[in-house]
Amino acid sequence: MRSYWRGYILVLMAAQLQPISGVTRSFKVRSNIGEELLAVAYLRMQAEGLLQQMFWQAAPSLREFLDWCHSPGTIVIGAFIEIQRPTLDAAPEVELAGLGWVHSVRVRNGARYADAGEVFWRKFQAMGCTLEMGRLMLDFAFQEVKVDALYGITPEKNIPAVRFMKHCGFQAFGPIPGLCCWNGQECGGYMSVLTRAAWEAKKHDA
Ligand SMILES: CC(C)(COP(=O)(O)OP(=O)(O)OC[C@H]1O[C@@H](n2cnc3c(N)ncnc32)[C@H](O)[C@@H]1OP(=O)(O)O)[C@@H](O)C(=O)NCCC(=O)NCCS
Repeated sequence: MRSYWRGYILVLMAAQLQPISGVTRSFKVRSNIGEELLAVAYLRMQAEGLLQQMFWQAAPSLREFLDWCHSPGTIVIGAFIEIQRPTLDAAPEVELAGLGWVHSVRVRNGARYADAGEVFWRKFQAMGCTLEMGRLMLDFAFQEVKVDALYGITPEKNIPAVRFMKHCGFQAFGPIPGLCCWNGQECGGYMSVLTRAAWEAKKHDA
């Protein structure tokens, strides 16, 4: 009798485990993020203390953030995680995992360049998936937005961001004393640049 129950329980466990083993996860990026989703993203960044990290000069109000997202030459890129479970009603679960932006695209002698940055919700940080999504955002910037170079300024105290930016292939200069602030205190910062040629070379090496 006892061994019958043991076998029954094992069958039940296997039935529960089978769908989990077939779960696939993929990442997608796109622009044209609706105002409602941008507002949800803003509230999430505010709740998770990420606004201050992203906008280290001064955290914007919701209205200022939305205006910034819609300012000329600014393209906001959403990074989405799509989870596909092997069930009969196989609609994938899609969740916004973070935002990237190509801000204030300018043109000089035909070359297009812009400020860039990214933010991921805390539950996706330090999970080993942000770099993959960051690279998709950079592909989007170079291929769809057709920029020739991206640049950024990163406070030296934001260590994950400094390392992330270098992993993405940005060439960083600094730290330059007093360039940034962090938690209301002046601090050094890096100026960084990623050219199209450097991005393509990095992809080729990978
Ligand atoms: C910046 C950001 C995208 C990085 O993504 P992440 O998933 O947190 O990054 P990782 O966990 O891969 O960490 C990156 C590196 O920093 C290191 N790191 C993280 N926290 C650290 C800490 N407190 N001290 C020292 N090193 C740290 C990690 O070990 C890793 O190093 P390595 O890969 O060179 O070994 C993410 O933290 C984020 O969205 N931050 C908020 C928004 C922001 O600051 N954006 C940048 C403004 S432009």
